[in-house]
Amino acid sequence: MIVCVCNNISDREIRQAVDLGLSSMEELKRDLGVATCCGKCENCACEVLEAHLGNTQETVLKRPVLTN
Ligand code: FES
Repeated sequence: MIVCVCNNISDREIRQAVDLGLSSMEELKRDLGVATCCGKCENCACEVLEAHLGNTQETVLKRPVLTN
């Protein structure tokens, strides 16, 4: 699904950016240009960002801790 029509950025691209380390709207704006034109996508982009950050953190927490 296209989230930012002005910059042709999809929800998948936002999730990929989060996987690569982006963690804030400021970083999405700076690196992908999301919400830097008309701004109508900002709420949706923020929801995708926060949902995937939540999923990513849950995944990290579910990883087993390796000990020697
Ligand atoms: S739709 Fe994202 S800036 Fe316009």
